[in-house]
Amino acid sequence: ARQYFVGGNFKMNPTTREQKRALIKILNSADIDPQTEVVIAPPSLYLIPVLELLRKDIKVAAQNCHAKASGAFTGEISAVQLVDAGVPYVILGHSERRSLFHETSEIVAAKTRAALDAGLKIILCVGETLEEREGGKTQDVVQAQLKAVIAVLKPEDWSRIVIAYEPVWAIGTGKVATAAQAQETHAETRTFLASAVSPAIAESTRIIYGGSVTASNCNNITCQADVDGFLVGGASLKPEFVDIINARR
Ligand code: 13P
Repeated sequence: ARQYFVGGNFKMNPTTREQKRALIKILNSADIDPQTEVVIAPPSLYLIPVLELLRKDIKVAAQNCHAKASGAFTGEISAVQLVDAGVPYVILGHSERRSLFHETSEIVAAKTRAALDAGLKIILCVGETLEEREGGKTQDVVQAQLKAVIAVLKPEDWSRIVIAYEPVWAIGTGKVATAAQAQETHAETRTFLASAVSPAIAESTRIIYGGSVTASNCNNITCQADVDGFLVGGASLKPEFVDIINARR
């Protein structure tokens, strides 16, 4: 069975160190299901203090990294530096990186390769826009995003990849996918992985859902057969994040 996974993507939040400490305090004192893999992704500025303050059964992710190990790339952080700092995970291919920061699937693939070579685990985000869904192109888009990454992966890399299906229309909109929509896309994506990679890897790779997940809407989605957890944005900044972590309990 695939281990249930809940990630918290803080994005460019919170805006004070005091708020960051308060969030860590909530998590550190929470009763958390030991069966669940929990990963939080604070802004890069806070990665090292969070690693120091956070309980050790919760892991930490960066929200991005550069494909090169070092050099003249002002403002960037490399996968090698993340590993050196003790960070085990990185989120790559988030729709905000793709749309606002012009990351193509090829850039995401290069970053994924660099992150794996450095020793990181990856939360790889894919997902379609509303226009693409309404045009019946959801699987085309998801598969194209995945194909670019699959092209740079070796079979042994897959144990370090979690796929986050995040429909763009659901991110930060309050418009969560229905349980049926999530299940359908996750199942089709798993079928695609079986043919494009291998049935064994399709079966073992976790596919988590992201987009307007809250404590009150996660219960229907979490019982879907091909949904292996969540990537949570806004609600990961609130005490209800603990309830999402414990949704399978
Ligand atoms: P929201 O949960 O705020 O919609 O964000 C989802 C997301 O983008 C997580 O990466």
